[in-house]
Amino acid sequence: MVLPKMYQPMNYPKHVHIVEVGPRDGLQNEKQEIPASVKIELVNRLSDAGFKNIESGSFVSPKWVPQMATSAEVFAGIARKSGVIYSALTPNMKGFEGALAAKADEVVIFGAASEAFSQKNINCSIAESIERFRPVAEAAKANNIRLRAAVSCALGCPYQGDVPVSAVVDCVERFAELGCDDIGIADTIGVGTPAHTREVFEAAAKRYPIAQISGHFHDTYGQALANILVCLEVGVATFDTSVAGLGGCPYAKGATGNVSTEDVLYMLHGMGIETGIDLDKVCAAGEFISQALGRAPHSRVSRALAAKRAA
Ligand code: HMG
Ligand code: MG
Repeated sequence: MVLPKMYQPMNYPKHVHIVEVGPRDGLQNEKQEIPASVKIELVNRLSDAGFKNIESGSFVSPKWVPQMATSAEVFAGIARKSGVIYSALTPNMKGFEGALAAKADEVVIFGAASEAFSQKNINCSIAESIERFRPVAEAAKANNIRLRAAVSCALGCPYQGDVPVSAVVDCVERFAELGCDDIGIADTIGVGTPAHTREVFEAAAKRYPIAQISGHFHDTYGQALANILVCLEVGVATFDTSVAGLGGCPYAKGATGNVSTEDVLYMLHGMGIETGIDLDKVCAAGEFISQALGRAPHSRVSRALAAKRAA
């Protein structure tokens, strides 16, 4: 595919690392039953497209998130590609044990900058969540498993509304103390705008190395690409994205999916920023999973390229 003329401003990272979260964040909110075989094929198609980190499932309570109940089956069925990190969400030691048994390469502890969201999503306060994550972090280190953290509601909360920047920074500091390899700052409900995003990421970067901070943007209000651009200017070089724009959090009503991987790749590649990922293969993976779900991909780039092919 021929991309528009390259434009490479000096201050953007030359390479961006994309964590594909479609099989987890993308599918967790789907009400219909998705066979493990479909999830497995999705993960395999994504590894074939060149992703080096694929969030492939969650070891959470099946009563809370029924769609992720097949995660052990998914991990057991995927064709592992060397050099690819297959990651899993783990809210507590029970989740860690599941991830360890499934041979996950990375575990993700997920907290929030909002007390209200912490209660709704993981049924405990922020302080309690950190105490639950502490043994998970220690066990991850002891087992040489990479440790990532997610700070939900960093740009707004569906229950509390505004979230102070200081609450995000506080959460980042708590995760830093647990020895996380990466801390993801998440706009769970996609309400953030670029100036706010800049303020939050710049404040976080004062407390934690920017190379270990990632961005996770839901696209509810159509701000995600603009927010990612601002993050690139701040120096963030890792982003979570979701194939076909799948997703949403079951405990963040009204929030739509993550920013589409295809749209982010198109933007980055068009700016001359390398990702090592094959956009055409991602589009094909997005069409595969969207067809399985009985709808068209949310990605505008995917739809535009499909229309171009059909013309
Ligand atoms: P709880 O009810 O307080 O937990 O839930 P509990 O320890 O009292 O246990 C209750 C039951 O759950 C017991 O079973 C446990 O065994 C079981 P029972 O005796 O009733 O049969 N249980 C588990 N089962 C499987 N795996 C586990 C596990 N832990 C307990 N790990 C808990 C607390 C954290 C478990 C629950 O609230 C939960 O599972 N929450 C998960 C919510 C979730 O997955 N949300 C979506 C992911 S976060 C997200 O999408 C945001 C993100 O994308 C970033 C962003 O956008 O912001 C990451
Ligand atoms: Mg999310």
